[in-house]
Amino acid sequence: METKRRDFMGLGLGLFTAAGSIGALYAMKRTWDPLPSVKAAGFTTIDLAGAKENELTVEKWRGKPIFVLKKSAEMPKDDRDVIIGSDRFHVTIGLCTHLGCIPAYRKDKQDFLCACHGGLFDISGHESFGPPPSPLEIPPFKIDGTKLVLGEEGPEYKKMLEAGVTV
Ligand code: FES
Repeated sequence: METKRRDFMGLGLGLFTAAGSIGALYAMKRTWDPLPSVKAAGFTTIDLAGAKENELTVEKWRGKPIFVLKKSAEMPKDDRDVIIGSDRFHVTIGLCTHLGCIPAYRKDKQDFLCACHGGLFDISGHESFGPPPSPLEIPPFKIDGTKLVLGEEGPEYKKMLEAGVTV
């Protein structure tokens, strides 16, 4: 009888310890998870419904300038184009891939000139002259209707990666 009682108490103590451990693990996990405000801060949503052709808009995402430009039908198609409905957009991080200056959009020439060392990027963000070693970067994005959500890898962005497009 005494043995049974001891077993029962041992079992109770074991369960209590296990519950305590699970509680402690849960509390630790909550400490590691980013706060909802931090999670939300990683995304920027831009509604492109009213975008005009050949007009550069500069948005901000995670402290970086983001170039958004609606391409006209005459502008060359490119596998880096972000397609929303029937429209094509140039969407890149507006930092020169040489040393990080912000290139200026030249509307008349339809290119991006970096004044720091004369680097040039074409309308699709490809480096076309000077020291930049690679195209302007495309930020991870998701398309949600007419909106562009920066900071999330949506199917269109993943498709670019799978196709080997330089992002
Ligand atoms: S930083 Fe742009 S060309 Fe050097």
